Amino acid sequence: MRCTFLPYCLPFIGEEEIEEVADSLRSGWVTTGPKVKKFESDFAAYVGVKHAIAVNSCTAALELSLAALDIGPGDEVIVPTLTFCATANVVVHRGAAPVLVDVGEDFQIDPAAIERAITPKTRAIVPVHYGGQPCDLQAVLEIARRRGLAVVEDAAHAIGAQYDGQRIGVHGLMTAFSFYATKNMTTGEGGMLTTNDPALADRLRVLSLHGMSRDAWARYTEVGSWYYEVCEAGYKFNMTDLQAALGIHQLKRLDAFIARRRDIAAQYAAAFADLEGLILPVELPGRFHVYHLYPLRVLEAGSQWNRNSFIQSLREAKVGTSVHFIPLHRQPFYRDRCAYNPDSFPVADKIYSQIVSLPLYPKMSNEDVLDVIQAVRAVAASSMRKPNRSSRTTAA
Ligand SMILES: Cc1ncc(COP(=O)(O)O)c(C=O)c1O
Repeated sequence: MRCTFLPYCLPFIGEEEIEEVADSLRSGWVTTGPKVKKFESDFAAYVGVKHAIAVNSCTAALELSLAALDIGPGDEVIVPTLTFCATANVVVHRGAAPVLVDVGEDFQIDPAAIERAITPKTRAIVPVHYGGQPCDLQAVLEIARRRGLAVVEDAAHAIGAQYDGQRIGVHGLMTAFSFYATKNMTTGEGGMLTTNDPALADRLRVLSLHGMSRDAWARYTEVGSWYYEVCEAGYKFNMTDLQAALGIHQLKRLDAFIARRRDIAAQYAAAFADLEGLILPVELPGRFHVYHLYPLRVLEAGSQWNRNSFIQSLREAKVGTSVHFIPLHRQPFYRDRCAYNPDSFPVADKIYSQIVSLPLYPKMSNEDVLDVIQAVRAVAASSMRKPNRSSRTTAA
């Protein structure tokens, strides 16, 4: 057994990032400046998209996208229930109504549930690429095209993921990314919004900084001018150069980070393949999974073998875990506000009762990976006597 506790997640910050932040501090550009511009263009080139707008979180990117679509009171936005609260909270912040829908066995938003949820008030769909695997984008985009809806992708988990050979960030109208500390690359806090639409990109930039016609970079350099106009009541969502200093170097390492994540996922898959009572994540055809999460499904068999006891046993073996996510329709705010029929989300409810996310991040050593494998196998072995077990794989 390990001597020290293995945290569920840790960021991987290198010396280059630290030097670049120090350089920003020395330069005086501590807010939005040249490094944000560079990070935006590097990110756009990486994704293969025309425009990338850096902001202070994925939450901000999502809200900005809804603001640019003029979504507000009277409008509805479709969101999967199996997501982090930010995906739906931003809809509430805009004064619109989030409409939660169920997911499929692949953990991703269920296209049939989207169809059923569309009303004359629906304006947009916000699919989430759960865990770093793209959702069924073709189906979502086809529904949106047919019903005249916008698609804003929540790609908080999916930087570098691919759908049909193209990186996530080019398919829908807008795509929001997260650089939160636990994500596949980090700027501490931070986010990015991508689009191929130049007019939309211009509006997003204006809206991201008070609705002003020029940003600080343009105003305070020798090419800038003191004059600006407030075109609309925008937000204070801009990213700082201190964050971009981290992002520039994290982006350079992203493909190596992803390779390591995929390597650890492959080791877990091989090590757990014979374990009864667990369903393992798999990569679906046509998708490139970046394994932001590795959610095991624990098939309950009696009070000694269920998700909660599994988490507890791993904790006792000094392995940290997490649960992604408590479905939003189970959260007091959404449950009370929307008065959902508790039977409306059978798949999300079932998945929620089974999931546990294992540690999986590039900073893990080979020994850490082996410790997780050993701990999971030991917990599984201690319950092998339990009846009604089956071993399968699922797409997540
Ligand atoms: C699916 C999803 N969407 C949005 C967010 C919000 O990201 P941020 O913390 O960058 O605002 C998260 C964060 O965990 C997330 O998991």
